[in-house]
Amino acid sequence: MTQYHDIRQKEQQWEDVDDYLTGLFVPDDPALTETLKSSDAAGLPQIAVSANQGKLLMILAKSCGAKSILEIGTLGGYSTIWLGRALPAGGKLISLEYSEKHAEVARKNIARAGLENRVEVRIGAAVESLPKLASERLEFDFIFIDADKQGYCDYLDWSLKLTHPGSLIVADNVVRDGQVVDPNSKDEMVQGIQRFNKKLAAEKLVDASAIQTVGSKGYDGLAFAVVK
Ligand code: SAH
Ligand code: DHB
Ligand code: MG
Repeated sequence: MTQYHDIRQKEQQWEDVDDYLTGLFVPDDPALTETLKSSDAAGLPQIAVSANQGKLLMILAKSCGAKSILEIGTLGGYSTIWLGRALPAGGKLISLEYSEKHAEVARKNIARAGLENRVEVRIGAAVESLPKLASERLEFDFIFIDADKQGYCDYLDWSLKLTHPGSLIVADNVVRDGQVVDPNSKDEMVQGIQRFNKKLAAEKLVDASAIQTVGSKGYDGLAFAVVK
């Protein structure tokens, strides 16, 4: 067996174990593989959730019986497809994306996965799309927050308006390579996450927690909140 001594070997071990778990729990899926390939080919950043995290999102959405899902931050549609697969017949997912280019790539990937009837990608800044969802009186059983980190506090406020007791809110990237514990961080994304974690923890309308994650997407974390 490979010996893991220093931190770089430790990181290699986390990746190896992630590959091992993915090999066990995530069957090959041409639509998801093509989604990552076409996203790379179009020059999108490689910041989709990992395969295991995608499956975790699917499991969480299924376990709260989600029929309506909102995603904030589509990229090439990788997490979108995982979440779309959690929907029962007649279920609906709306994914918000600022970049027209990302949305175009995502729509093709969503269609390839056979989800075009259940999934709608809306283009625009999330702070503008979210009030529109509220004015349409839409409500969501599950919300995945994964767009610009500076906006997470606003996205939490809107999420609370767009959910009901029992809804689950999940947020990606809440650890940022451990930088969240640096009170002097000058990184605006880290500062956005620090504000978000503090706000989420203090929010009386939810029960919330967060975990650290390691593996193929490096060292980061996920936060979970169930609406009371
Ligand atoms: N959820 C995706 C990854 C999303 S990456 C996955 O795991 O597969 C973050 C995405 O949020 C990028 O595509 C970026 O263009 C988008 N984004 C950034 N700022 C935004 C904003 N203000 N409103 C909506 N989307 C935004
Ligand atoms: C970034 C954004 C993400 O959603 C992610 O999972 C990783 C990195 C980023 O903007 O750097
Ligand atoms: Mg993310």
